[in-house]
Amino acid sequence: MDYKMLISKALQGRENAYTPYSNFKVGAAVLTEDGKIYTGCNIENASYGATNCAERTAIFKAVSEGHRTIKAIAIVGIEDDYTYPCGICRQVIAEFGSEDVKIILGKRNESDYIVKTLEEILPGAFTKKDLDR
Ligand code: THU
Repeated sequence: MDYKMLISKALQGRENAYTPYSNFKVGAAVLTEDGKIYTGCNIENASYGATNCAERTAIFKAVSEGHRTIKAIAIVGIEDDYTYPCGICRQVIAEFGSEDVKIILGKRNESDYIVKTLEEILPGAFTKKDLDR
């Protein structure tokens, strides 16, 4: 899997971030199981709770185009540290991530990143498997 390419797409996605309130720009890019890539950015709102995170923008774009399984998601926020997904986005990754979904956290460029598993960032996740019991 080409992590650097996916981070590059997330950096491109970040360019469209709409952040007049926080000025905290985030970009994301997802790779679907059938090889499609969707980018996303955070989109803020004067009614703050209506804000959508970059990760969910990217995932919802993929799902709304018929791609329900995400193999990887790259996320870039601030330049000098890794930006982890918020709790709501972790739950959405749990819903649409493959068994071994890779969560790639980038910084200022494509070559500086770390990779996390869902179990590492959302241990004991509540998922559709729980509802099937
Ligand atoms: N944000 C994201 O886009 N993704 C995250 O995982 C963390 C938070 C956005 C939401 C809001 O626009 C800004 O960052 C500050 O919270």
